[in-house]
Amino acid sequence: MVDTTAKKLASSATPISPAVPIGQEVVKASLSSRGPELSVIVPTFKERDNVLELVERLQKCLAGCSWEVIFVDDDSPDETAQLVRDIGKRDNRIRCLQRIGRRGLSSACVEGMLASSAPYLAVIDGDLQHDETLLPKMLAVLKEEQTDIVIGTRYAPGNRIGGLSHSRAAISHFATRLSRLVLKAELSDPMSGFFMLRREALERSVRKLSSIGFKILVDLFASSPHPLKFTELPYEFRTRKAGESKLDTQAVWSYVMLLMDKLIGHIIPVRFVAFSLVGGFGVVIHLAVLTLLFSVVETSFMTAQSIATFAAMTSNFALNNVLTYRDKRLRGWQWVWGWVTFTLACGVGALANVGIASYLFARDIRWILAGLAGILVGAVWNYAVTTVYTWKK
Ligand code: GDD
Ligand code: MN
Repeated sequence: MVDTTAKKLASSATPISPAVPIGQEVVKASLSSRGPELSVIVPTFKERDNVLELVERLQKCLAGCSWEVIFVDDDSPDETAQLVRDIGKRDNRIRCLQRIGRRGLSSACVEGMLASSAPYLAVIDGDLQHDETLLPKMLAVLKEEQTDIVIGTRYAPGNRIGGLSHSRAAISHFATRLSRLVLKAELSDPMSGFFMLRREALERSVRKLSSIGFKILVDLFASSPHPLKFTELPYEFRTRKAGESKLDTQAVWSYVMLLMDKLIGHIIPVRFVAFSLVGGFGVVIHLAVLTLLFSVVETSFMTAQSIATFAAMTSNFALNNVLTYRDKRLRGWQWVWGWVTFTLACGVGALANVGIASYLFARDIRWILAGLAGILVGAVWNYAVTTVYTWKK
């Protein structure tokens, strides 16, 4: 196996040192002379108007090193991925990883890094807000110093955050303080999406990453088995010119999910926690609708209770779709079909709930405990079944 690969490599266009014997050594020699030293990972969603400019800037500032760029695009409707492939036809350092039916900044960065073979990996936004001219410096620091990761920071002394509004700056500051709950390091800008690390540092933590939401750096630090050695380099966060930010209010929720996963994820799946919180909110909706229909509008109790049940199930479904399963969000007809499977699953869950609770109650378990046991069984059932059938993608 190795032998034939080696022969193929040996006979291919670029000559390899003849002194090296055919075999594994040849594979090693030829690989080390051809692969890029640095992979720049660029997560993109609807960045068509920024891609070419970024490529040109990378070509300019990385002229001295062997590099490639991997755009990880989540099937942007503006066809960012196609544009990247078109550029790649003329320059084979420009690569595209297109993900279909998926969303998520962190998971895009992780998959991009895993698609590379380079010893050094950088992550930078595709909207030109990060200062790409810092990349050669980052690489030099990584090579020379005993450091695992170099981070571009917006908060180093004397730095101003040009690209952030006042409210964004305040939120960012608060999120930074919250991150101390899970971080094992005093980072000035743990929310940064701009950094470069050694492959080994990624490999040590890659299986423990949560890959939830936007904050890949927090995830990397919190998932590393031992504290990462880091260096921070200040840069000025630029204002976005083309396209728009995807960091909406739901990014706050995914950040909370990430922190929860890091804090309690080893005990209980964070999605189940989210699912249960949504379920709890469903009870509020149910009681509100019931009160409105039964006490105010004065329909029959049976009708009021039925409508309230459907209203709660629908709101639970819609909320889970945007919060708990945001990365697998259903739209259009898939949404409708998802609602059907969710409602059916929860219907069976309700039967299981009542069944278990009645069984326990009949066996002299206190009513409140029997009721809670029923709720727990119902919730676990609903979660398990809808994970498999409703948000199966
Ligand atoms: N593949 C993929 N999937 N890319 C995404 C997604 C997604 O779901 N959402 C956003 N992106 C890409 C954008 O296209 C952009 O290239 C980059 O991720 C950053 O997204 P923005 O929407 O521009 O985020 P921001 O400017 O508000 O915040 C960024 O900078 C902050 C400071 O460094 C993010 O990187 C934050 O995480 C970071 O804190
Ligand atoms: Mn941005």
